[in-house]
Amino acid sequence: MTLRPSLTLFIIAATLMTSATPASAQTGDIQAGQAIYAAQMCSLCHSRAGESGPMAHVGGPLDGLASRRDAAWIEGYLRDPKSVIPNSQMPKTGLTDQELADLIAFLLAP
Ligand code: HEC
Repeated sequence: MTLRPSLTLFIIAATLMTSATPASAQTGDIQAGQAIYAAQMCSLCHSRAGESGPMAHVGGPLDGLASRRDAAWIEGYLRDPKSVIPNSQMPKTGLTDQELADLIAFLLAP
């Protein structure tokens, strides 16, 4: 069977849209996110739930983040901090979509 060009294009577009689902729209696992937070050494520059690293004053507290930022903002920021805050001092993370979703779930958890 040969597909009509318009149908082929539709299928390609639908496939692209599916793969472009933002990490923030995926279901994140808070426990996995906590492990990623530790492995990425986020606490080096941040404090959260009473835990803080040697340079926690640099990034400041992440407690109550949900009241300041939403998942979409955090995702864009963690993917490329400078695209959101031009003079950002945050390093890029290079996490996968699932890892980002997990980390965001952890960051937004109370
Ligand atoms: C080298 C220090 C450093 C490390 C490591 C770091 N951050 Fe940051 N972070 C900062 C700084 C500085 C800011 C303040 C804004 C800016 O400069 O981009 C910030 C801001 C943030 C914000 C925004 C906070 C707000 O109130 O708007 C989030 C969320 C965040 N960091 C999460 C993380 C996560 C998650 C990790 C680990 C993957 C991480 N940070 C690792 C330095 C760091």
